[in-house]
Amino acid sequence: MKIDVLALFPEILAPALQTGILRRAQEADKLAVNVHNLRDWATDKHKSVDDYPYGGGAGMILKPGPIFSALADLNPGQTAHVIYLTPQGTPLTQALAESLSLETHLILLCGRYKGVDERVRDRLVTTEISIGDYVLSGGEIAALVLIDAIGRVLPGALGDYESAQVDSFSHELLDHPHYTRPAEFEGMQVPEVLLSGHHDNIEKWRYTEALRRTAQRRPALLQKLELTAEDIAILKAAGLTELK
Ligand code: ADE
Repeated sequence: MKIDVLALFPEILAPALQTGILRRAQEADKLAVNVHNLRDWATDKHKSVDDYPYGGGAGMILKPGPIFSALADLNPGQTAHVIYLTPQGTPLTQALAESLSLETHLILLCGRYKGVDERVRDRLVTTEISIGDYVLSGGEIAALVLIDAIGRVLPGALGDYESAQVDSFSHELLDHPHYTRPAEFEGMQVPEVLLSGHHDNIEKWRYTEALRRTAQRRPALLQKLELTAEDIAILKAAGLTELK
């Protein structure tokens, strides 16, 4: 997987790309991330990449010229999947991150100011993605969120790949509670079942808690799932049926 990022503030991405799973994925050649400064494709002596909006109003718009030139260099065969990070995009989900992790070449375009000239979207962008219903000062942090979500599910990237498979949202449920030693801390006990060594009971407890947590915190997520008769029985036993 190769990811090219086109940004006005590339330095925002560097530290996160050099840390943890993203660092290891790159060292293991599972992932190559190159961050480019859009100003490198500006042609005037001030290296300007933005201009006033036609029709007036506040804010600046990223000009099409430097972005088209950059994409001509980074995507000459037009085979890459070009993603523009914007609050107007498709909401990022685990399923979207997992499907993007199967691509071979992504180009992430980070906006700033009022965003890009519409012709960039019309001609160059494959997919627009939003990381949530709020407005960031630019797309760099959103690109980082996307790279992180993709990087950790790349086959072979996460040392303990299984832990990505069973975490929140891979089963479309929120995660169950976790505990480590000591068994008693400041008067608070670890649930007995987790100390029992009885694997089936532990799995059942974890699944019940994941269902309970999802029902309580994110009922809309649960509405979308096909619950089995057993799931419904578990929810009923936990007094949570009215949510379904
Ligand atoms: N750029 C600014 N805000 C954003 C958001 N919420 N998601 C993606 N890109 C953005």
